[in-house]
Amino acid sequence: MARKSWPKGGETFGRPVISTLVKGYTCSFFLLTTAMRTRVLTGITTTGTPHLGNYVGAIRPAIAASTQSSVDAFFFLADYHALIKCEDPARVERSRLEIAATWLAAGLDPERVTFYRQSDVPEVPELCWVLTCVTAKGLMNRAHAYKAAVDQNLAAGQEPDDGVTMGLFSYPVLMAADILIFNAHQVPVGRDQIQHLEMARDIAQRFNHLYGGGTDIFTLPDVVIDDDVATLPGLDGRKMSKSYNNTIPLFEGGSRGLRDAVARIVTDSRGPGEPKDPEASHLFPVYRAFASPDETEGFAQALREGMSWGDAKRVLVERLEASVAPMRERYEALMADPAQIEDALQLGASKARQLAAPLMERVRAAVGLRSGALKATVAPARKREARRARFVSFRDTDGLFRFRLLSAEGDELLLSAGHADPKAAGLVIRQIQDSAGEGVQPVGDEAYAVVLDGVALASAGGFADAAARDEAMARVREALAGLAED
Ligand code: TRP
Repeated sequence: MARKSWPKGGETFGRPVISTLVKGYTCSFFLLTTAMRTRVLTGITTTGTPHLGNYVGAIRPAIAASTQSSVDAFFFLADYHALIKCEDPARVERSRLEIAATWLAAGLDPERVTFYRQSDVPEVPELCWVLTCVTAKGLMNRAHAYKAAVDQNLAAGQEPDDGVTMGLFSYPVLMAADILIFNAHQVPVGRDQIQHLEMARDIAQRFNHLYGGGTDIFTLPDVVIDDDVATLPGLDGRKMSKSYNNTIPLFEGGSRGLRDAVARIVTDSRGPGEPKDPEASHLFPVYRAFASPDETEGFAQALREGMSWGDAKRVLVERLEASVAPMRERYEALMADPAQIEDALQLGASKARQLAAPLMERVRAAVGLRSGALKATVAPARKREARRARFVSFRDTDGLFRFRLLSAEGDELLLSAGHADPKAAGLVIRQIQDSAGEGVQPVGDEAYAVVLDGVALASAGGFADAAARDEAMARVREALAGLAED
């Protein structure tokens, strides 16, 4: 499996975005020369509040990459995934909002990027089920997250599956659906997710093999590991992580929250005037992540020359504030007006569904679940009204085959004459559909019929007067005109 780096973007934020190749080869030439843009997709599980480490390790490089012309970026809030880890509805809701606001405040352009909530794309769970049906249980047994839960239980003398939900167990299938529904080429993730990408490829391959009939329905995604920018030390010097409780907040608590956290960064006991080794301090990597090379060198030099930890922290806070304050202002404006956030996400959902719906249609057709109904749900608003009218066939009590034309609301607009076999009834449906409403004509004051080539094919009646009849005729004409457009 070829693993590629983020498409190279040159200098960003004062230092190059360098990526480590896990295995495989660099493909920047491929990316620059190919006409097709690389679809890069990643998900953010909505259980927490973003901290400085998330910003430097994930948000900033992802947004930087999304501005390149070779990249077609898809970023989404993995809120169905959040349910696996978190049973607190208020926290999930809050986290969705905070994470969306953070990405927007950090410069994500929702016009350019497809930025959406997973739960706004019903094709994702739908595909998830279809994929579940081709995924070997044995493959899921091997998933690290599940195995870790089992190991923990065994170590504690519990039943192996104690507390393990089906959500946790089959989580890699949902992740595969997230990726495959958009035929993403590249998926930037943390190292802990590499196995999930391998599983997504396995599942895609199996589906293609079973149902592709020679053409591949799913693209096999490549994992992208971006090690270089990935980790900031936390307050205690270990990797900054919510689970270590050592984070520096990004926006939470305002400038005061930032200052207070920096004040708690652990330093050694060297006093003012004593030379300090920048590389050994937890302050320095945080500073470097926000500074130009020149500024970074200046900071290192000052430490070597004995700058006090107190002064170093002040310089660090100033440097952080210069980058964070303008974003924080946008963040606070967004949080004060969540409708703006919602608009951005709805735009994203509609862009996402433009792609997801046709792919899901192909999947349904491939497995034998062809449907027409789905199409209507993503049709443009103007056509939607007309499109939702539909023909419904049935076998009547007299043994003959008839059909109704139902309006979008389910009202009967037409009832057909009886036919000896369903095929004949089907042909008449076609004929009426193609007529675009032309043959609709009154029959007395209380009824109308569709008459084509002199034959009454279907009718409706029981109207109180000619006016009511005319109104109904207008509706049926509109419905048929809409259907004929398809
Ligand atoms: N599981 C990922 C994580 O914990 C989040 C995620 C969900 C994701 N679906 C995805 C990442 C699809 C990439 C692609 O980090």
